[in-house]
Amino acid sequence: MKIALIGYGKMGKAIDAIATAKGHEVILRIDISHKHLLDKEHLGQADVAIEFTSPETAYENILKCFEANVPVVCGTTGWLEKLPEIEEICKKEGKAFLHATNFSIGVNIFFEVNKRLAELMAGQSQYDVWMEEIHHTQKKDSPSGTAITLAEQLLHSVTRKKEWVNEESHNPELLPIISKRIDPAPGTHSVTYTSPIDDISITHTAHSREGFAAGAVVAAEWLKGKTGVFTMKDVLNL
Ligand SMILES: NC(=O)c1ccc[n+]([C@@H]2O[C@H](COP(=O)([O-])OP(=O)(O)OC[C@H]3O[C@@H](n4cnc5c(N)ncnc54)[C@H](OP(=O)(O)O)[C@@H]3O)[C@@H](O)[C@H]2O)c1
Repeated sequence: MKIALIGYGKMGKAIDAIATAKGHEVILRIDISHKHLLDKEHLGQADVAIEFTSPETAYENILKCFEANVPVVCGTTGWLEKLPEIEEICKKEGKAFLHATNFSIGVNIFFEVNKRLAELMAGQSQYDVWMEEIHHTQKKDSPSGTAITLAEQLLHSVTRKKEWVNEESHNPELLPIISKRIDPAPGTHSVTYTSPIDDISITHTAHSREGFAAGAVVAAEWLKGKTGVFTMKDVLNL
């Protein structure tokens, strides 16, 4: 497969290594100084684009892939408010778009565990619940996109919590997400239900970026030749 990498930072480089080792050809590597190459002529030569940039740039980059008619896998977090717009354009124009706040297979299984645990805890009002996420200090968004996905899954079932907040809180209607920035943490997420009698805690700890990068390459292989809006749930058939 011919791959265009949009964003050539920590994730772009990790994806490059894995894609190349799997026999794919990376034909474009775009960081901020190569932004001018994001056009139909260059993008159009790729079978798929993989976008890992910044919350401010993801939306425009995805539109450029749509214009070039290149399927796009996006892992950038922190721009969720514009996601519905992209999904609508993708469906209306018959393009291909796959996004995930976390591409690691382990985290996607963790998402399913989180949903099931939230269903079980829905009626157990003696438990309060809070979350923690730990990432490296260069991370731009807070809380992490993965933490927001986990929080939304939880709020769907545990309706005594009305919304998440990115700070400590003892308000029984709020779900606190505590964000810590410690190098070199690639990403740790935990959800803890706590009662006077006991605690139940689930944690996912990424040991490196490899899991995210490998998942993004699998997603790109899966997306080739498809049209529509997809997530890792579709790729992993969860
Ligand atoms: N979904 C997942 O599984 C997952 C996993 C890890 C990270 N992420 C997310 O992925 C994103 C990138 O993470 P990272 O750790 O790779 O960040 P990073 O190391 O800061 O890299 C970002 C890259 O994007 C480039 N960039 C910025 N603006 C651009 C633009 N307008 N056009 C093209 N390239 C541009 C930067 O170029 P310069 O270096 O020239 O500035 C840099 O190469 C973040 O949103 C992060 O939260 C997602």
